[in-house]
Amino acid sequence: MTDARSAAWDTYSRGKPQRRRTNAKGETTWFNWSQYPDHGPGAEVLALRPGDSVLDLGCGSGGNTAHLATLGMTSVGVDLSAKQLDKARERWSGVGGMELHQSDALAYLGSSSRAFDAMYSVFGAAWFTDPALLLPAVHAHLKPSGVFTFSQRPPVEGCYGCQASYIPRGPDEDPAVVKRWDYEPGAWELILKEHGYVDVSASVIPPPSGSRRTGTLLVRAVRGSRAARSGEQ
Ligand SMILES: C[S@@+](CC[C@H](N)C(=O)[O-])C[C@H]1O[C@@H](n2cnc3c(N)ncnc32)[C@H](O)[C@@H]1O
Repeated sequence: MTDARSAAWDTYSRGKPQRRRTNAKGETTWFNWSQYPDHGPGAEVLALRPGDSVLDLGCGSGGNTAHLATLGMTSVGVDLSAKQLDKARERWSGVGGMELHQSDALAYLGSSSRAFDAMYSVFGAAWFTDPALLLPAVHAHLKPSGVFTFSQRPPVEGCYGCQASYIPRGPDEDPAVVKRWDYEPGAWELILKEHGYVDVSASVIPPPSGSRRTGTLLVRAVRGSRAARSGEQ
């Protein structure tokens, strides 16, 4: 797959260092929803039990996917970027129960009949896919009462809906551009409810103490019994 978006994310991958070997607690795998190390909640947000199935939309180099596999879940990751998945396969080759696919998240869901106990996305495909398309697809592939959670940067005030995201290339090249979707927490809550999700919560986790001002938007929702907009039975 070599479309413009996967090439853009391959470029991102080349400039992105691997996750640290251990976190502040000395653990070799862990879950992080935020852009800061050792910050915010962990995998408990997904309310999963060993044996459950979970899909990571835009898994990147697979740190969170691997962690859930070590907890005993069937942990599936999908990502557009071959380079990101190469990193994941190299770093987590010893982790069982982990499955990786190179695909656009929507295309993967569209081609699969699998249902998951939970889906999530950490600064991943949920940020970079039109929610009008993604939310019905996620709903259709979640088991009843399955959890969908995603994190991303909060919007810049006044900049809502589809925005341009720039991925730097070489010093003499224009950056690659991908689209992302930004809304305030209250708007995300309405959008998810309109698409048939219940128990919806959206909030901004404050940044760690210090000079950083940007927190982490965390949105969590449960699959309701009806997909309000998709026409699903
Ligand atoms: C900022 S990285 C985050 C990666 C990972 N979730 C993490 O927390 O480290 C965004 C990832 O989303 C992937 N991505 C973006 N749009 C996607 C899409 N439509 N389908 C699948 N993956 C996508 C990119 O290839 C990239 O690996």
